[in-house]
Amino acid sequence: MAQDVRGVIAPGKNEPVRVETIVVPDPGPGEAVVRVQACGVCHTDLHYKQGGITDEFPFLLGHEAAGVVESVGDGVTDVAPGDFVILNWRAVCGQCRACLRGRPWYCFDTHNARQKMTLTDGTELSAALGIGAFAEKTLVAAGQCTKVDPSVSPAVAGLLGCGVMAGIGAAINTGNVTRGDSVAVIGCGGVGDAAIVGARLAGAAKIIAVDVDERKLDTARSMGATHTVNSRTTDPVEAIRELTGGFGADVVIEAVGRPETYRQAFYARDLAGTVVLVGVPTPEMKLELPLLDVFGRGGALKSSWYGDCLPSRDFPMLIDLHQQGRLPLEKFVTETIQLDEVEKAFERMHHGDVLRSVVVL
Ligand SMILES: NC(=O)c1ccc[n+]([C@@H]2O[C@H](COP(=O)([O-])OP(=O)(O)OC[C@H]3O[C@@H](n4cnc5c(N)ncnc54)[C@H](O)[C@@H]3O)[C@@H](O)[C@H]2O)c1
Ligand SMILES: [Zn+2]
Ligand SMILES: [Zn+2]
Repeated sequence: MAQDVRGVIAPGKNEPVRVETIVVPDPGPGEAVVRVQACGVCHTDLHYKQGGITDEFPFLLGHEAAGVVESVGDGVTDVAPGDFVILNWRAVCGQCRACLRGRPWYCFDTHNARQKMTLTDGTELSAALGIGAFAEKTLVAAGQCTKVDPSVSPAVAGLLGCGVMAGIGAAINTGNVTRGDSVAVIGCGGVGDAAIVGARLAGAAKIIAVDVDERKLDTARSMGATHTVNSRTTDPVEAIRELTGGFGADVVIEAVGRPETYRQAFYARDLAGTVVLVGVPTPEMKLELPLLDVFGRGGALKSSWYGDCLPSRDFPMLIDLHQQGRLPLEKFVTETIQLDEVEKAFERMHHGDVLRSVVVL
């Protein structure tokens, strides 16, 4: 039987979000209903609310979550009721051209639930990133549930569902940061700080954090940055070059998603270095660069979708590292909040007051 639960809806472009009753269908074949225990507030939820991703309002927001599987539909064998899971937005299909070539972290045909969750009047909801977890329960494709060690706190585990995984993966999977590398991270919110943590885990020798907000630089230092640059007062390209013997960093990770910070990343990198764009731009943004510089500086310009992660490989591994005290995921949780406080959390995010507000249910 379908169930009525509370969930956070973005009703229309730039309208405040609100808590509504939503209807969660029973899981069909290949689907699972998950009782959400925690869901972090990610910048991408704000992008949805602002109409920056699609205009398929109303959205059921939230996508950085952990919880317990309540029920599963026919044919589901990988997870069972009672399993503690992190929700992912990369349920690999196994059949697309990326999967068939053995590169499932790029899967071009990821699975979501086939059925829609609705408002009580039947209006269909678009679930953010196919998850929609600012809700007491949500319906997902079973492949979106990744089982992990249940002894970790849900507020911490859920972070791996999006932003923190994106940042760590930008460093270790996309940027291939390795022992001895110099790394610069531009934009030290949740994603940028996770890139710092990832770079540290991978053995980077120098980690330079860049932000316009001094508070963010303090946190970045506590996450493992060896140097910080306030780009409001200092030219970050010059500063990064100075800190790297005049050359630039081996890997520069852009975690803001703006043309001017991308340009900084491009020029702050050593010859043959790598730029990783993990920040998400908006549709009107344009970038102009001298093509000769693109050629002449060599190396790789990469984008990182979800940290090029493979949830089944990366989530349990990162939870293990966290349990061993080698990955300080708990530092990303600035505050825990209730469902009806998401709008306020967007405000605080906008003002740079938090790394992550996490809704705990
Ligand atoms: N690629 C992916 O798969 C993926 C996944 C999740 C989030 N993201 C994106 O990553 C980006 C960062 O997300 P977040 O949650 O960390 O956001 P956030 O708002 O917490 O952090 C952004 C940081 O950038 C800083 N900043 C803003 N303008 C700057 C500038 N000009 N120079 C330097 N720093 C500046 C801010 O002070 C803040 O610390 C967003 O664009 C988000 O949509 C991407
Ligand atoms: Zn695929
Ligand atoms: Zn996200």
